[in-house]
Amino acid sequence: MSKNLIAPSILAANFARLGEEVDNILASGADIVHFDVMDNHYVPNLTIGPLVCEALRKHGVSAPVDVHLMVKPVDRIIPDFAKAGATYITFHPESSEHIDRTLQLIRNEGCKSGLVFNPATPLSYLEYVMDKVDMILLMSVNPGFGGQQFIPATLNKLRQVRRMIDESGQEIRLEIDGGVKVDNIRKIKEAGADTFVAGSALFGAAREDDPNRYDSIIQAMRDELAKADR
Ligand code: DX5
Ligand code: ZN
Repeated sequence: MSKNLIAPSILAANFARLGEEVDNILASGADIVHFDVMDNHYVPNLTIGPLVCEALRKHGVSAPVDVHLMVKPVDRIIPDFAKAGATYITFHPESSEHIDRTLQLIRNEGCKSGLVFNPATPLSYLEYVMDKVDMILLMSVNPGFGGQQFIPATLNKLRQVRRMIDESGQEIRLEIDGGVKVDNIRKIKEAGADTFVAGSALFGAAREDDPNRYDSIIQAMRDELAKADR
């Protein structure tokens, strides 16, 4: 079983002090930086691009950066994110006319590739590309905004994908994104996830004047993960 990775979504961080926020959350024990890219076209919100990813690398962030693309079209921007220091690049199958080509493009650029499934997107997109993905990301909210409620049906979908991954024999991370909190992370783990995105539960919950503010929440998540029965 692969290591549990906690992936804070910087969407919920204070963007005026982003470098410091990312340093603090990593120092508190987070594993990878989840980087939400929105274009006001594929999703109704607008966030950050390759320049910000590059700025975090120049600031000294060495942890893996997990770029979640919610943009359409998707291919044009992939090499820019690879140059900007992305580790993972994931995209939604609805945003690419040629999914296999996009997956190959990501790997050819030296990054790890992944597909993202909205709550209503069928898993059939995986059928012919299990050997071309390093990450499968299930959205447990509809993409576009932080702070939404976890959609419970995602737990069954996670179980399905966990079976597919195990049967494939491939090394593929199973990531969950949306509404992940201390009080549901154990169930999510038990359903098969190994990579846990959390935005508002981490950045939103803590007091800004406490330098150790993220430690206790990350520790509480790890304690819950340790109780999981798989
Ligand atoms: C939503 C984004 C998420 C979001 C998660 O489109 O993909 O990464 O930031 O935020 P929370 O944890 O607040 O649901
Ligand atoms: Zn995301």
